[in-house]
Amino acid sequence: MFAKVGGSVVSMRQFVRLALLAAVISASLPGAAAATIEGSEQCGRCHTTIYQSWKDSVHADALENENFLLAFRATQETGDAALAKLCLQCHAPVTELNGDGELLYHLTWEGVNCDICHSVSAMKQTKTGFEPVLKPGDVKYGPFKDAVPDAHEVQGTEIHTQSEMCAWCHQYTNPEGTPILATWSEWKKSKAAENGLTCQSCHMGEATANATDPRLDRDPGAKINLHAAPGGHSLDQLHKALSVSLRPKRDGDKLDVEITVTNKGAGHAVPTGMPGRRVVMTTELRVVGGETHETTRIFGKTLETAKGELITRDRDYFTAGVRLKTDTTIQPDERRKVLFHYQVPARATAILTVKMFYEHTYSGSVGEKDRINFLSQKRTIRPIR
Ligand code: HEC
Ligand code: HEC
Ligand code: HEC
Ligand code: HEC
Ligand code: HEC
Repeated sequence: MFAKVGGSVVSMRQFVRLALLAAVISASLPGAAAATIEGSEQCGRCHTTIYQSWKDSVHADALENENFLLAFRATQETGDAALAKLCLQCHAPVTELNGDGELLYHLTWEGVNCDICHSVSAMKQTKTGFEPVLKPGDVKYGPFKDAVPDAHEVQGTEIHTQSEMCAWCHQYTNPEGTPILATWSEWKKSKAAENGLTCQSCHMGEATANATDPRLDRDPGAKINLHAAPGGHSLDQLHKALSVSLRPKRDGDKLDVEITVTNKGAGHAVPTGMPGRRVVMTTELRVVGGETHETTRIFGKTLETAKGELITRDRDYFTAGVRLKTDTTIQPDERRKVLFHYQVPARATAILTVKMFYEHTYSGSVGEKDRINFLSQKRTIRPIR
């Protein structure tokens, strides 16, 4: 199909490209800070499917997130400007380029946006984590080695298909050597890593869709990576991560229960990320016509300040001198066995219920939390005849 543009005949594909490109140029914001980083809506004009999945993602919400804002305000209240700047490095990385510590620009509020990730040309390892080599501008860096768009220039990289891309923000060891965010280093020693599974393999689900608006696509129906990045708030991911098996054993009036929690599907510890996350397992053993026994086990991390005080607020994890206190997170591929011993009359029936919850305690007001029940198992334990 052909269309006429400025006296010359161009293909319909080229025509659509030119039209979209013109729209992009005319929509460029005058006076926008960090003029070299473009707003994500601009990319969304052509990369429609990717834009939709990113827009609903935690990355698009990294600054706007209410929990973050609460913790960030609390950080600012300490008067430690360097600490507040550190938060923004990961939650509003555009500030590294536009210096917008006051959060004045719309672009800053895009959180982890398209152009910041696609200006990364390589990643350098540092003492505290990873640091990107950012080259904002007309060249967009990405996974394709053979893309030939005329909308902007492109450069294929290795980094976009490697976990180190994500480690930029998902790995942070404080200057004293305590890992605060350790998702990358946990992954590094997992079977998943050994088998060639990266963060992207599990968090950027491939879908049959178009990398750009279908009218532009070089290969309609090719696989693209959705940018939704589901994690611990997704039931589906939690089901993939952990499984639980129950093994009761009776001997006279003694009842032993072995519960095995297996990290089968997360290529890192469960929970991972901010230390405020935890997985809680509750058990209830109800003896029919008798007593009920309840227990709670917590899988998670606790950290303490340089003065030895237990940390309960997100802002404090990044302060100087923080140390690890306890770590009961379930490591990748680990099978954690938990044993319970009960006294139950041999002739009684007992009903065992095990539930798993995913929790995140927020920093703003202690005690306020998200709680998701992602697994329940019930087993009737028959009497000995
Ligand atoms: C957190 C960083 C990050 C953000 C934010 C991000 N991307 Fe990506 N993008 C990636 C990575 C990593 C890949 C490569 C995934 C792979 O190949 O395993 C990729 C791949 C792509 C590709 C190549 C096609 C494909 O699906 O592999 C396009 C086009 C793209 N992104 C556009 C966008 C647009 C447009 C936005 C914003 C709406 C965006 N990206 C936001 C990291 C990001
Ligand atoms: C006018 C349309 C248009 C706009 C606007 C646009 N792109 Fe693209 N982009 C394309 C086309 C076409 C391709 C090639 C797709 C292909 O090869 O299938 C592409 C490819 C890419 C790739 C893959 C490069 C590679 O080598 O892996 C990335 C990454 C990308 N764009 C990012 C962006 C980002 C970020 C923005 C916003 C700042 C943006 N694009 C804006 C049309 C556009
Ligand atoms: C520039 C910093 C940055 C980069 C690069 C980055 N992330 Fe994130 N990511 C964040 C922040 C900040 C959050 C938390 C956002 C929130 O909860 O508001 C987050 C959240 C997530 C979550 C959601 C966890 C949950 O609680 O549900 C997943 C999954 C995730 N990122 C995966 C990735 C993957 C995979 C990559 C690499 C392709 C990546 N991230 C690259 C900053 C980044
Ligand atoms: C083999 C698949 C797999 C790989 C590889 C993987 N993840 Fe995950 N990830 C999961 C599953 C399943 C969950 C849900 C369980 C959970 O919340 O811990 C998850 C949860 C998360 C969360 C939410 C935090 C939490 O505990 O709730 C973040 C953040 C995250 N992953 C980031 C990453 C990053 C960064 C990498 C690479 C260094 C990575 N993941 C590699 C499967 C994977
Ligand atoms: C090295 C990067 C990095 C730095 C620095 C950082 N964060 Fe984060 N933050 C993340 C990532 C990645 C996540 C998501 C990981 C996860 O799912 O646990 C996150 C999640 C959070 C969350 C949870 C949001 C939610 O709703 O789940 C809060 C709150 C938070 N950060 C506050 C802060 C504060 C306050 C600071 C500064 C004192 C800070 N962060 C510094 C990377 C960082």
